[in-house]
Formats: sequence, C-alpha cells, structure tokens
Amino acid sequence: MNSVQIISTGLALPSRVVTNDDLAAMEETSDEWIMKRTGIHERRFTADGETANSLAREAARKALEKSGISLDELGAVIVATLSGDYSTPSVATQMQERLGLPKDIPFFDMNAACSGFPYAIEMARSYLVANPTHKYALVTGVEELSKLLDKDDRSTNILFGDGAGSVVVSLCDDSYAQVLGAESSLAINCLGAKSDESYIRMDGKEVFRFAVRILPYLINTTLEKAGLTADDIDWFVCHQANKRIVDHVVKAMKLPKEKFYCNIDRYGNTSGASIPICLAEMDEKGLLHEGDTLILAGFGSGLTWGSCIVHYR
Ligand code: UT7
Repeated sequence: MNSVQIISTGLALPSRVVTNDDLAAMEETSDEWIMKRTGIHERRFTADGETANSLAREAARKALEKSGISLDELGAVIVATLSGDYSTPSVATQMQERLGLPKDIPFFDMNAACSGFPYAIEMARSYLVANPTHKYALVTGVEELSKLLDKDDRSTNILFGDGAGSVVVSLCDDSYAQVLGAESSLAINCLGAKSDESYIRMDGKEVFRFAVRILPYLINTTLEKAGLTADDIDWFVCHQANKRIVDHVVKAMKLPKEKFYCNIDRYGNTSGASIPICLAEMDEKGLLHEGDTLILAGFGSGLTWGSCIVHYR
C-alpha cells in the first residue's frame, strides 16, 4: 500500500469575522478593490483566547472523534504551520496531553508555508510506509496570520486570515503521486522571532506570476506521475491565495471549473491551513464521496510548491 486516503476531517475557525468593509473603516481600501483583485469578501481573525494552538487542537479533536480510530493506532502527528504560538515547542507537541495522544510517536511542525499541507501529507504517507505497525497519521494545517499583519500595509493585511483544518489519514492501494519543490526567494517573507516588527512582507506581483506558472506545472506533473488524466480527478483543491490565480489557471488549462473548490471569499488566504480547511468544509457539506480522487496543490513562500493525490475513504 503506497497511496494515502483521508479517513476523517475536522474544521476550526475563529469566531471573529472581519469583512472588507471593516478593513475599509480602518484604512484606505474598499470591498470593491479587494473583491476584484482577490475574490476575498471576509476573513476570520482570532479573538477571546483563540490561538493557533487552540484552533489546531479543536480541528484535530474533531477529526480524531469522527475517525473512530483507537488513539493507540496513531503513528505520527504532523502540523503544517508558520505561525504556531511558540517558535518552540511545536503546535504538534502541545496536542499530546490535551488530546490524550500516545507519547511514543513523532510529533512535529513543518514549515513549507502555503505548500505545507501537501508536504505534510507526503511526510505522513512516507512515515506510514516505513513503519507498517502504525496505521494512521494525524495531519493538521493551522495559521494565525492576523498576528503577523502590518496594520499599515494594505497590500498584505487584506489578504490573510486564521483557521485550522485537520485530517486523519491511512495508507491505501490506489494511484499516488507527489510533486514537492522549492527555489530560494524572499518574495514573501516574515522575520519572525528575529524582529520586534514581525510582519508578512510580499512582492504581490512577483508571487502572482510565480503562482500562475507553478500551478499548471503541479497539476500536469502530478497527473502524469500518477498515470491519471483530469477526468479521473473528482476535486482539485488548490491553496486559496487569490481567486484570480485559480480562475486564470482553470481557463488556461481548460479544466472544469466546478471541480475546483473555492472558499477564499469567506476565509481569505490562510496559508498552510487553506487546503485542509477546504477539505473539512467539503466533508461537512457532503461533497466528498467514498472513492473520490483529489489533487491537493499548494504554492507559497520559499518559494515552495507541493501537490499530491489523496483518496477519500
Ligand atoms: O499565499 C501566498 C501567495 N500569495 C499570493 O498568491 C499573492 C499574489 N498576489 C496578489 O494576489 C496580488 O498581487 C495582490 C492582490 C496582492 C495585489 O494586487 P495587484 O494587482 O498586484 O496590485 P498592486 O500591488 O500592483 O497595486 C495596484 C494599486 C496600487 O496603487 P497605484 O500605485 O496604482 O496608485 C496600490 O497602492 O492598488 C493599490 N493598492 C490598494 N488599493 C486599495 C494596494 N493594496 C490596496 C488595497 N486597497 N488593499
């Protein structure tokens, strides 16, 4: 068994909804500008004690409960994030006690920015292949990007949001392929613990050009490696960076638009959390069916890119 299937999902969104009109009341922007350039109408920001760690735990708890697995069958706990509560300890380790998880398995965070979730799925799959006594892995994507936004930089602070999504995965016999890569660039960066002013900075135009170049490469190469065609794919779940990026790629590649799930209008760009938030929301809406084949595709800071095939149980 070399492929990977989603057994269950969990979603956690902060309670505070921030609309474009809310932002327009604080800085020189408008709902019209933001919607036209990005497709974003509102996003969620943490409030009242919500943090990256608490959102990740909530999403993970829901995914574990729905999975029906026994916790001692869990083989690895992996979190894709760039914005955990601490530089160290990781978000993953802080789940162990609160969720009652076994201690004798690996817990780690990984940072591949907006490509983090496909990277993390591949880490989980590889771990399960190499450790056949373990049946399941818990993979979470979480971000609390609101704490990294410069209130004086309207070119970035309108884009990002907070949230978490989690999946329990196991191996299965089916098609699989992954494409993971990176090239050095500071086009999106955040100094983090090295700076008192730790804000996300981005060259939007350069990132946009990168995104519309890399997404077709990811989709084509993943299909080719898996020996599949676009007709074999039930859902394309792409990182929610900007609706214009996905619309552009769908049109250029002549792919069926209805197979691309989109929720950027409600959550903005949640980086490593955007793909698992889509998956959990699709699951809640009953859009995922047994035997479905999905391509997950992310791109972002690094610059990184990552895609993989997953199946729905
Ligand atoms: O997950 C990581 C991946 N990130 C991405 O994929 C982001 C990719 N890039 C983008 O989505 C777009 O570049 C943005 C949405 C960030 C910006 O759109 P743009 O079409 O590249 O706009 P721009 O930065 O070239 O700015 C155009 C104009 C400028 O005014 P002038 O110089 O033409 O007078 C900006 O000052 O729009 C102005 N502007 C704004 N106006 C109103 C920039 N931000 C805003 C704003 N509201 N929020």
